[in-house]
Amino acid sequence: MNNKGEQLYTGKAKSIYATDKPDEVIMEFRDDATAFNAEKHAVIQLKGRINQAINTHIMAALAHANIKTHFIKSLSATESLVKLLEMIPLECVVRNIAAGSLCRRLGIEEGREFDSPVFEFFLKSDSLGDPMINESHILTFGWATPEAIATVKKLSLQINTIIKPLFREANLLLVDFKLEFGYIDGEIVLGDEITPDGCRLWDAETKEKFDKDRFRFDLGDVTEGYREVAQRLNLTW
Ligand code: TMP
Ligand code: ASP
Repeated sequence: MNNKGEQLYTGKAKSIYATDKPDEVIMEFRDDATAFNAEKHAVIQLKGRINQAINTHIMAALAHANIKTHFIKSLSATESLVKLLEMIPLECVVRNIAAGSLCRRLGIEEGREFDSPVFEFFLKSDSLGDPMINESHILTFGWATPEAIATVKKLSLQINTIIKPLFREANLLLVDFKLEFGYIDGEIVLGDEITPDGCRLWDAETKEKFDKDRFRFDLGDVTEGYREVAQRLNLTW
């Protein structure tokens, strides 16, 4: 069936294991959290389970909206079966409200809502601290083709139009989020995860932060924040 084989890769918050099928892998959500290029690390109780529940829910919603993703099915409280992708080394960030590095870089006040979303590329490189890059860099250094750039941008903005209302119905503002894409059989599909590790989610009225900024900036109990997101989406973990 889906026998868990050798560990193929371990990242800062997830690990990937082989299965009996060469084109399918197991993605495990761990309780580890890192920030500031892994300078800060902690184990956040239940984070793996809560993120698995949130990611499963979002990936199902995307599938329902005909967005292709690597997600196949949930296997356990912290493990999902996913398709093995050949990853594009880009982090695609969509922003609806100003926060984080955009405020630091451009001097924009936190909380400013944009008329239309801001899209940014970052290079997926731990050793360089994920620098922001533009399309000219991507083409010059061969990180993606012009067609892939257009596709990941289009998909990222489409995904925003699907998940922003999904969170808004749970009284949460989707401030910003990061996506990663990869190829399977020549087609670009969504990979990685959509969880409070890679999204900013604020209470729609109070603007209380329920995402990883709690961990980055010691804003309160991190598990409580993630639990609040899952509870508002009517999930169990
Ligand atoms: P930023 O404000 O730090 O650039 O991040 C924007 C959003 O993207 C935020 O929700 C966090 C997410 N993100 C990651 O999860 N990992 C990354 O490496 C980057 C650059 C952003
Ligand atoms: N996850 C990255 C790190 O470990 C960046 C972040 O989310 O702050 O540094």
